[in-house]
Amino acid sequence: MADRQMLAQNLTWHGSSVTPEMRAILSAQRPLTLWFTGLSAAGKSTLAFNLESLLVAKRIHCCVLDGDNVRHGLCRDLGFDSQGRTENIRRVAEVARLMNDAGLVVMAAFISPYRRDRELARSIIGVERFQEVHVSAPLHVCESRDPKGLYRKARRGELSGFTGVDAPYEVPDCPHVYLDTSRTSLSDCLERLSGLVTVRPHHDAQG
Ligand code: ADX
Repeated sequence: MADRQMLAQNLTWHGSSVTPEMRAILSAQRPLTLWFTGLSAAGKSTLAFNLESLLVAKRIHCCVLDGDNVRHGLCRDLGFDSQGRTENIRRVAEVARLMNDAGLVVMAAFISPYRRDRELARSIIGVERFQEVHVSAPLHVCESRDPKGLYRKARRGELSGFTGVDAPYEVPDCPHVYLDTSRTSLSDCLERLSGLVTVRPHHDAQG
């Protein structure tokens, strides 16, 4: 925390005597952020929300942070140029960190097309909690799905800077999980993902 403290001028960090470890023990689950990255319509939100339902059914406390949703509120002032995307990811990573500190499992579904932004998210959230999930599907498959009609708009020139059309997507070099949603069924994907989330037996929160 010290470096954060030094960065912020005239601010003092107030530590809590309740540590993230105590909260994790209390909730009997390991806080984790599954960071779903991939093209629009690759299946990130579908996987994140289906996984949420599955985990809640197993009594695991979790929450989805979804790109389209977050851009309705917390990040409504941001655009899709590289600075806007970087700030989007930075804010979301800070929220995911807080949610993890509170004991929650987080599913973050964002295109997050730049490696350096995903690295930033990893450093904010912490390497031991951050798990990168590359939700992949060939561009032509994403375009044929086009649930929001945005690829069509981008191809017609009505939307500029659209990822995969005229803005880059930098493929993860070494993701924790790689899922090709054009070849793998939803239930198989969910099985892979739910295996990452571990539940611990209940202990006394004091130790
Ligand atoms: S990110 O690049 O900053 O990570 P984010 O995941 O929050 O993107 O938002 C992506 C969603 O915004 C897409 O699913 C799509 O519905 C919408 N969108 C609108 N304009 C664009 C654009 N230029 N590029 C990508 N997605 C866009």
